[in-house]
Amino acid sequence: MMSRKKIKIKFKILLVILIMILIIILVNIDKENHNININEVNDYKYILVNKKNKLSSDFIPDNLVEVKDCSIDKFYLEEETANAYDKMCLDSINEGLNISITSAYRSYEEQKDLYFTYLKLYGKSYVDKYVAVPGHSEHQTGLAIDLESLECDIFRNSKEYLWVRENAHNYGFIIRYQKGKEKITGYSAEEWHIRYVGKNAAEYIYKNNITFEEYYDLFLK
Ligand code: DAL
Ligand code: ZN
Repeated sequence: MMSRKKIKIKFKILLVILIMILIIILVNIDKENHNININEVNDYKYILVNKKNKLSSDFIPDNLVEVKDCSIDKFYLEEETANAYDKMCLDSINEGLNISITSAYRSYEEQKDLYFTYLKLYGKSYVDKYVAVPGHSEHQTGLAIDLESLECDIFRNSKEYLWVRENAHNYGFIIRYQKGKEKITGYSAEEWHIRYVGKNAAEYIYKNNITFEEYYDLFLK
């Protein structure tokens, strides 16, 4: 006869296996419910630019437009991103917030200047964490924006950031470089850097707390 102790161990193993099966089923249901139309996969807003994926030095988005609101300087974004930012900006104003832009579209040359300026000032280990090598920056796509709060110098301590963190996905934006995801994104947390991916992807990324790299592997590869 099996001892009580052995039965207990077997029961525990069975329970762990059942829980694991349940988790796998739930994750897959979630994946199946998230539909991306096959014709959509090549949409510009899904372009993956990171340390492994590069844009050519002469790449310039053909639909850059000037940002209208929530910006004290002249900045450009690709059109769909600019429209989404406009909506987010107007709603944030209605919530009593004061958001602005410190950087948006950057040409290859501008990224090159930025990279070498920071390299000289702060060294290689700093740029490896915070500044993309020219050709590897999302800013060259016109889909990325660096935000600031006009109320508080440190963005992550501002009420503007708290609002962006909880609401950006409703406008199609994600906070691209999150704390704890450095190994996947290749960069340290940048709470101020948002990236347009459209509402469908942004909502999934936000709800599942994943990076754009992980989303790309799941649905766009
Ligand atoms: N700060 C981000 C990584 C960039 O330079 O594009
Ligand atoms: Zn940025």
